[in-house]
Amino acid sequence: MVDVDEFIDEATAEIREKLGDDTAIIALSGGVDSSTAAALAHEAVGDQLVPVYVDTGLMRKGETEEIREEFGYMDRLRIVDAADRYLDRLAGVTDPEEKRKVIGDQFIEEFQTVASEVGADHLVQGTIYPDRIESEGNIKSHHNVGGLPDVVEFDGIVEPLRDLYKDEVREVARELGLEEVISERMPFPGPGLAVRIVGEVTREKVEVAREATHVVEEELEEYDPWQAFAAVLGKATGVKGDNRVHGYVVAVRSVESRDGMTARAQELEWDTLQRLQSRIAGTIDNVSRVVYDVTHKPPATIEYE
Ligand code: XMP
Repeated sequence: MVDVDEFIDEATAEIREKLGDDTAIIALSGGVDSSTAAALAHEAVGDQLVPVYVDTGLMRKGETEEIREEFGYMDRLRIVDAADRYLDRLAGVTDPEEKRKVIGDQFIEEFQTVASEVGADHLVQGTIYPDRIESEGNIKSHHNVGGLPDVVEFDGIVEPLRDLYKDEVREVARELGLEEVISERMPFPGPGLAVRIVGEVTREKVEVAREATHVVEEELEEYDPWQAFAAVLGKATGVKGDNRVHGYVVAVRSVESRDGMTARAQELEWDTLQRLQSRIAGTIDNVSRVVYDVTHKPPATIEYE
């Protein structure tokens, strides 16, 4: 990217030109990419843009409230509460690709409903350069890139961030005046907490992943990680009070990266690790163990599924 202001001028001009007087729709995920694409498109065409946020029940703690605060100024913002539909559909699904597919399909259903209600002709997407590369390599299905345009008919698709890396997107976000909670936010995968739960997604495991991730984000902020979160791996024995319990094993992951394509596990202080285990196993009822993931990417991926 040459210069932020120049980029914004060119991108807004492109959006205006592609849309004309048409209505466009964008899926907001709460992540920096879709938020920036939405802010850019709103700057370009105002109320011709319908931002849609689908609460899948797999979002981070406080995410829906943050969206309402940040994007409430956009008159046509739609917040869809779809948590029960997602979680019901995920019951019994254990295969990672199948999980992604169920989530992607449900997303398309939710999105399609709103798109036809508002008569959207164009789709705006927050796809960035590394998304395109990973999709071409087909490492795993990225539901925010494929899927939608194949199923929902649009006259055109606009991807204003298609050539940018994440750090450049953050620059644009700051320039557009997005709050720090959004512009400096860690990347969050489209399928949400579901890819941080190994095996079947249940409401109980989602709650553990959400609470533990909140603790990890707070405790590791000073390390300025690319991503830091908690995942639910399975169950193991522990003792709480006088009782043996069969509780969840929570993995803490914290990585450094530029674009998510490769990553290094961060070296954390022992005191930090101890604080993490004491808060996570101590305050979340059904957690019996906390482990730290020291694997780089490759050979591991950043997310668990
Ligand atoms: P992995 O786990 O493949 O992740 O090492 C690389 C980066 O991509 C994010 N990620 C996703 N983002 N939809 C997204 O929008 C997805 O399906 C998806 N899967 C992984 C992940 O959080 C990391 O930043």
